[in-house]
Amino acid sequence: MGTRLQHQTVWISGAASGMGEGVARLFAREGASVALIDVQAAKGLAIAEEIRSEGGRAVFIECDVRHEASVRFSIAQTVVEFGGLQSLVNCAGIVQVKLLHELEVADWDRLMDINVKSIFLSIKHAIAHLKKNPRSYVVNIGSIGSFISQSSTPAYIASKGAVLMLSKSIALDYAADGLRCNCVCPGITDTPMLREHLNMTPDPEATLKSRLRRVPMGVPLTPNDIAKAALYFSCEDSAGVTGTSLVIDGGYLAAAEWEHPGATRFMEPQMGLREKGGSGYSRITLPTDS
Ligand SMILES: NC(=O)c1ccc[n+]([C@@H]2O[C@H](COP(=O)([O-])OP(=O)(O)OC[C@H]3O[C@@H](n4cnc5c(N)ncnc54)[C@H](O)[C@@H]3O)[C@@H](O)[C@H]2O)c1
Repeated sequence: MGTRLQHQTVWISGAASGMGEGVARLFAREGASVALIDVQAAKGLAIAEEIRSEGGRAVFIECDVRHEASVRFSIAQTVVEFGGLQSLVNCAGIVQVKLLHELEVADWDRLMDINVKSIFLSIKHAIAHLKKNPRSYVVNIGSIGSFISQSSTPAYIASKGAVLMLSKSIALDYAADGLRCNCVCPGITDTPMLREHLNMTPDPEATLKSRLRRVPMGVPLTPNDIAKAALYFSCEDSAGVTGTSLVIDGGYLAAAEWEHPGATRFMEPQMGLREKGGSGYSRITLPTDS
């Protein structure tokens, strides 16, 4: 158990799966009291129970982050459970694969509500509590899609651009209150969301392999890789850092060319890297991983 988040209570949306789950597990191991927020109650309850059985402090609060009353309640409940609130990590998100002219207004609204409006709502209802602390933290999950576009995901890309800029705006307006707000921007990360996306293709493993050819390191990121970046932004290791982003992408955005990289050698795509232990998902092949 670490101590970097001792005395912190953290509200984490999307905590029943993928990155949010990784954040909840890592933050609890670093001493935080964690409130797991999600619509997936069975999964969220089980993860919170597992964290508690390992000696951590965790509760699950069922909440649809699209709805103001629900978000407000989840924040209030977190404060009741743990006696305060120092941090938010906004991980809840969805992706839609459709060309813009195929999107219904309801599709657009749903994605924007989950990916962007939820951040507005969580900060709106947490700010009075956050301000009571000399220091407080908000981490939002953007994407490499905060910087570049991807095929057939117009609402998603628009939402991730918005997440990055919203993070900067929050950083500016609440700096004087001791709040720091930053954005973690992941590349291809092995989560249920990615798997669901790959499963829509005829050969999911082949699709992943072909996508990884674009990645200089040749591996998908793990939820724990992303959680470690969120941890950095949620403690004084990042003192002085606000309104910025940290891209965790295995080199994806650094590569303008990948099919014909010239003399540059990319890592061969490495598959089957995921294993789940008590501490969550982690990569099993890279010796430097901890
Ligand atoms: N996986 C990737 O490759 C990748 C890359 C870049 C960015 N991201 C972003 O990372 C974040 C986490 O994604 P993930 O890959 O861990 O996905 P995931 O699907 O594994 O987890 C997302 C979680 O959000 C929850 N959620 C969805 N709608 C909700 C709602 N209305 N209210 C409450 N909870 C809700 C889901 O139930 C789920 O538990 C998302 O914002 C996603 O856009 C993912």
